[in-house]
Amino acid sequence: MDELSQQDVIITAALPYAYDDLHLGHIASTHLPPDILYRYLKLKGKKVVQVCASDDFGTPILIAAEKQGKDPKEYVARWNSRFREDLERVGIVYDLFDRTSSPENVELVQRFFTKLNDDGFIYVSDVDQFFCETDRKFLPDRYVKGKCPYCGAEEQYSDVCENCGRTIQPGQILKPHCSICGNAPVLKKSTHYFFRLSAFSKKLEEWLVGSPRLQGDVKNYVLNWIKDGLQDWDITRDISWGVPVPLKEAKGKVLYGWFDNHLCYISTALKAAGKSGKEGQEYWNGSTLFHFIGKDIVYHHYLFLPSMRIGEGEYKLPDYIPTRGHLLLLGKKVSRSKHWMITVREFVDHFPPDYLRFYLTRITPLSQADSNFDLKEFAEKINNELVASVGNFVYRALAFVQSKHGGVVPEPAGEGDEEREVLRELDQAARETGALIEEGHYDRALRRLLDFSASCNQYFQKKAPWEKKADEPTAIFYSCNLVAGLATLLGPFLPFSAREIWGQLGSPGPLDGEPWDSASRLKVEAGRRIREPRPIFRKVEDADLGKVRVLLG
Ligand code: MF3
Ligand code: ZN
Repeated sequence: MDELSQQDVIITAALPYAYDDLHLGHIASTHLPPDILYRYLKLKGKKVVQVCASDDFGTPILIAAEKQGKDPKEYVARWNSRFREDLERVGIVYDLFDRTSSPENVELVQRFFTKLNDDGFIYVSDVDQFFCETDRKFLPDRYVKGKCPYCGAEEQYSDVCENCGRTIQPGQILKPHCSICGNAPVLKKSTHYFFRLSAFSKKLEEWLVGSPRLQGDVKNYVLNWIKDGLQDWDITRDISWGVPVPLKEAKGKVLYGWFDNHLCYISTALKAAGKSGKEGQEYWNGSTLFHFIGKDIVYHHYLFLPSMRIGEGEYKLPDYIPTRGHLLLLGKKVSRSKHWMITVREFVDHFPPDYLRFYLTRITPLSQADSNFDLKEFAEKINNELVASVGNFVYRALAFVQSKHGGVVPEPAGEGDEEREVLRELDQAARETGALIEEGHYDRALRRLLDFSASCNQYFQKKAPWEKKADEPTAIFYSCNLVAGLATLLGPFLPFSAREIWGQLGSPGPLDGEPWDSASRLKVEAGRRIREPRPIFRKVEDADLGKVRVLLG
C-alpha cells in the first residue's frame, strides 16, 4: 500500500438495498472491514473519507413500498435512517451515509448515461416483456412469479430461483403470473436500452491483468468470464421508480438499479469531501480508491462498474476491491424466507457491539471463503481471548493502582530490561499490526494484538507485583502504560472498549486524538488519578447463547 503515504483515500462499502434489515453478514463482509481500515488510516494521520448509502431504486423496493401502501420515497427514507441507526450501534459511522436517490447522484447518473450514449456505448433493442392487462403495466423481474424451469420450484420470481439459485432468462419462467393481481401476463414488445458491455472486453482484461492490487482469486475467474464472452446489459426498466432515462423518446423508462447504484460511490464521496465539478473529478482521480464488497456482487464491480467508468472516461477505476465471502450461520446459508438470519438490531440487543466486531473480525479473512458464525466458538473467543487476555490484563493493572496506590499511578523506580523488552514488543506490535491492516488482513492484525496482550500478561506475571518487591511501583507504572498502548491499537477494532479503557486510565484527552505511531510512547504519567476500574468485558454465558438461538426460530 505504498501510495497510501501520499494520496488521499476514499473508502466505500457496498450499498444495502432499502428494503431489508442489515444482518450480521452485511457487517462481516462489507461494513466492518472498511471501518477498521478507516479508523486506522485516521490514526495514521491520513486524509480519508468513508461513504455509503442506501440503494433506493429498483423493482423489489417499489413492490415492497406498494405492498405497504407507501410512497417509495417515504419508504426508502425510513430504511435509510434505520441503516444509519444500526450501523452506529456497532460503531460504524460514515462521513456520509447518503442515498442513491439523492439529486447529486441522479444528476451524475444521467450525465453518465448521456456521455455513454453519445459515444455509442448504448443502443436500443425491442425485447419481449411480460405485461399485465389487468394492471396495465409491464412487469419486470420480480413482478412476475412462476415455476422454475430448472428445478420446478413453485412461486419463484421470474429472474432467479431461490431454490436452485439459477438465474432465469426473461420469458422462461413457467406458469407465469402477475405478483400484484395473480393473473397470467401476456408478452409484449418494449423498447429497452442496452449497454455495450461486450465492447469493453479487451480494456477490462488489460485493467485486470495490470492491477496487481486487485484480489488474485477473484481476478482469475473474472478473466474467465471475459474469455467466455460478455453479454450486453439491458439497462432500462418500465417502472416509475428509478433514475429517468434522460431522453425525450424514453418517457416512462428508468435506469436499472445496477446502472445507478455504484455511481453513488462517486457522487457521495465528492459530496462528503465538499467538492464538485472539475475539482471533484481531480479529487477522485488523485485518491486511492477502495470499494469493499461481498462476493455475490463481483460481476457488477469487476465488469459493469469499471466498463462504465472506462466508457465515460472521467473517473478513475478502483485500486482495491476487497471481496469477502458469505457469513454462514451455524454452518447454514442465511435465508430470510427460512428465518435463518440474525439482524444487527437483534444481536446488539443481547451483546456489546465490540463482541460482534471482535468475533467477526477474528473469523473473516481477506478471501472469498465463507466464514461461519458459530455460537460455541463465539463464546470461546470472547471468553478466552477478550475476557481472559485483554480484559484480565487491563483490570489487574488498574485494580492495583486503585487498591495499593489509592487510585494514583505510582512513580517508577527506573526502567529495567523487562520494561525495555515489553516496550520494544509494543512498538513491534504497532508496526506489524499496522502492516497487516495495510495488506487488508484485519483478522491477522487482531490476532497480532492478542499476542501482544499475552506479552503484557506475561510481563505482569513475571513482575509479580503482589509479592510487594521494591520494583512494584515500576511494574504498575509500566503496566498502566501498556494498557494505554493497547487501547490505542485496539481502537480501530474495538472502539467502544478502547474508549472505555482510555477513560478508566483517567486520560485527559480523547482516545481518537492518539496517533497510531504514538502507541509505544509513555502516555500515563506518575501521579495521575485513574477512574474506578471496572471489568471491561463480561463473560458470555450459556444463557446468553440461548437467547440467540431463540432468534433463529
Ligand atoms: N445493493 C446491492 C446489493 O446489496 C449492492 C450495491 S453496491 C453498488 O447487492 F455498487 F452498487 F453500489
Ligand atoms: Zn396483474
